[in-house]
Amino acid sequence: MLFFITVYAAIQFSFLPADTIKTKAALGKKLFGEKILSKDSSISCASCHIPEFGFSDTVAFSKGVYGKLTKRNTPSVLNMKNRPYFFWDARAATLEQQALMPIANPDEMGLPIKEAVKRLTTNPFYKKTFLKIFGTAPNPQNLSEAFAAFEKTLETGESKFDLSVDDKVQLTEQEEKGRQLFISDKTHCFDCHRGEDFTNDDFKNIGLYDGYEPNDKGRFSITKDSSDLGKFKTPGLRNIAITAPYMHDGRFKTLEEVVEFYNSTTHFVANPINIDKDLAVPLRLSKQDKEALVSFLKTLTDKRYVR
Ligand code: HEC
Ligand code: HEC
Repeated sequence: MLFFITVYAAIQFSFLPADTIKTKAALGKKLFGEKILSKDSSISCASCHIPEFGFSDTVAFSKGVYGKLTKRNTPSVLNMKNRPYFFWDARAATLEQQALMPIANPDEMGLPIKEAVKRLTTNPFYKKTFLKIFGTAPNPQNLSEAFAAFEKTLETGESKFDLSVDDKVQLTEQEEKGRQLFISDKTHCFDCHRGEDFTNDDFKNIGLYDGYEPNDKGRFSITKDSSDLGKFKTPGLRNIAITAPYMHDGRFKTLEEVVEFYNSTTHFVANPINIDKDLAVPLRLSKQDKEALVSFLKTLTDKRYVR
């Protein structure tokens, strides 16, 4: 079986012109589903970043090698091309830099990069393919380059929302009401979830952090600056309907719960640290308002990524 897969892959790649972004991305796509890059050959990137679910996971914490659990919720890797940093706390500056971290992470793939490179080099298909595409055998640089090239192809722009902007379809009355609420001063959603991918690429504390251990301290864990306590990256909202559960700890299972969280202010009383001031006023949304917001969020799904 393995033999046939290897031969099939070799044929597939032999038709591709060498040294183009496309061939690198095709190799990156194959590597994204490659389990030999994990210690016990049981986990690939796609085990947690599941393509059918917007390249995210369906559980709060994902399973890595030997059943270990991740410490944060697995984010979608769609629409990463224009992000200025990666991870909930922005500890990686580029996709290239990011790509090798999950391989070495003991909770994720648990394989030292040296060993990963060795496994690829001793695999005839990979050795040949890397040589053809990069002119060198597998190494940490070209491995991360291949992953990044693939991830940069994962851009979504054909959601119902996008089509409505191009006047190709019309939003329903409820979706349109939700859109207006989303960009209004009543909700402030758009202040943070703005731009093409619905993120300001900034860090905010929206009140999930209660200031005590064992809570995740977010951006603070990298900067050690107390003004960063409890701040996390603003996630983009494209394909949000298919990437549940939500937030850095996956605490909300549905979009309804997320909207209810923003609507209630009880958490602000308990969480006084660095909370964004826009969120410190009650939204006072009616049941219809909340339903409309959720309907709007559901228009952001690019169906090409739902199978
Ligand atoms: C065991 C599950 C798991 C595996 C395997 C895994 N990831 Fe992740 N990934 C996560 C989690 C959890 C995070 C968030 C971690 C954090 O922010 O601290 C993440 C974050 C990311 C991000 C940043 C996304 C963002 O919004 O900033 C990218 C890109 C990414 N992973 C790509 C990959 C690639 C490439 C691989 C394979 C080499 C991979 N991941 C393997 C769970 C996983
Ligand atoms: C002050 C900035 C800010 C405002 C205003 C804001 N958000 Fe967020 N949003 C964030 C941040 C930061 C996170 C991630 C928080 C975390 O996990 O700790 C987030 C997370 C989310 C998520 C979950 C994303 C995921 O992938 O898990 C959804 C959905 C969401 N927001 C929708 C909304 C809606 C709807 C509104 C308006 C009612 C809104 N947001 C207002 C900053 C903001």
